[in-house]
Amino acid sequence: MATLPGVSGRGPAGEATASGVTSMASTGTSSEDPRKFALRVRGVTKVYRTDSLEVLALRGVDLDMLVSELIVLVGPSGSGKSTLLNILGGLDQPTAGQVLFGDLDLASCGEAALTRYRRDHVGFVFQFYNLIPSLTAEENVALVTEISRDPMDPGEALSLVGLEERRNHFPAQLSGGEQQRVAIARAIAKRPAILLCDEPTGALDSRTGVRVLEAIERVNKVLGTTTALITHNAGIADMADRVLSFADGRIAEVRENTRKRPAKEIAW
Ligand SMILES: Nc1ncnc2c1ncn2[C@@H]1O[C@H](COP(=O)(O)OP(=O)(O)OP(=O)(O)O)[C@@H](O)[C@H]1O
Ligand SMILES: [Mg+2]
Repeated sequence: MATLPGVSGRGPAGEATASGVTSMASTGTSSEDPRKFALRVRGVTKVYRTDSLEVLALRGVDLDMLVSELIVLVGPSGSGKSTLLNILGGLDQPTAGQVLFGDLDLASCGEAALTRYRRDHVGFVFQFYNLIPSLTAEENVALVTEISRDPMDPGEALSLVGLEERRNHFPAQLSGGEQQRVAIARAIAKRPAILLCDEPTGALDSRTGVRVLEAIERVNKVLGTTTALITHNAGIADMADRVLSFADGRIAEVRENTRKRPAKEIAW
């Protein structure tokens, strides 16, 4: 894989990321573990309350995400995957527990710190691309780089997802998969420590979806961006370092892929 000039990954404290980190079989590790952590989740619960109803969306989640690790989350609808992803991204806070990004506890910090965390350190990719139709691919990415501290050039971000030749196209002139790759370029152009993807291929066919997965895989490798990806597609789990299977608000099973399958070999 070619490396791009001026591209480097960052961990919670802005340190260079370790490359070639291998994954772990358990969700938790001891405090002596020399590997660097991107996020540490401890005893996280989430209760949604409405007038008449209480939903226990997360019932005690423990997880250490290693810097540059690629984690895939699978599990039935309603098992808590998006709830956890939103908490990891500082879009929501848990009812109890800790979510540590370096010394910052996302579970107990104030709204301003949470906003800074999201702005500086997190890239989001959702099923729907949310691009601005009146702006070109490059301008959509530039919207983010203009307010970032140490952004990539928008063209560099687009080239990382294989879209350098589409930079002047408007979203309507791009396929669904290409639009999603623009959304990935937009998410990673600020060089986030964490990339969170909630069903990024959910609206795409297999061939197009694989190109999106290849873009995520490349960002993970080249930038060392710690990545969590939710999918309903069991085949996609093969590209992960670790696969977390959710059931009923808990991580029911953890699988370590000793040999990751390249995204280009995945089909569904
Ligand atoms: N804002 C909310 N208010 C009330 N209940 C919620 C809210 N968000 C999620 N829930 C509930 O929490 C549980 C977990 O939802 P979550 O969205 O995390 O599931 P999921 O695993 O992502 O499912 P899917 O695969 O369908 O996206 C579900 O029972 C859901 O109905
Ligand atoms: Mg979901």
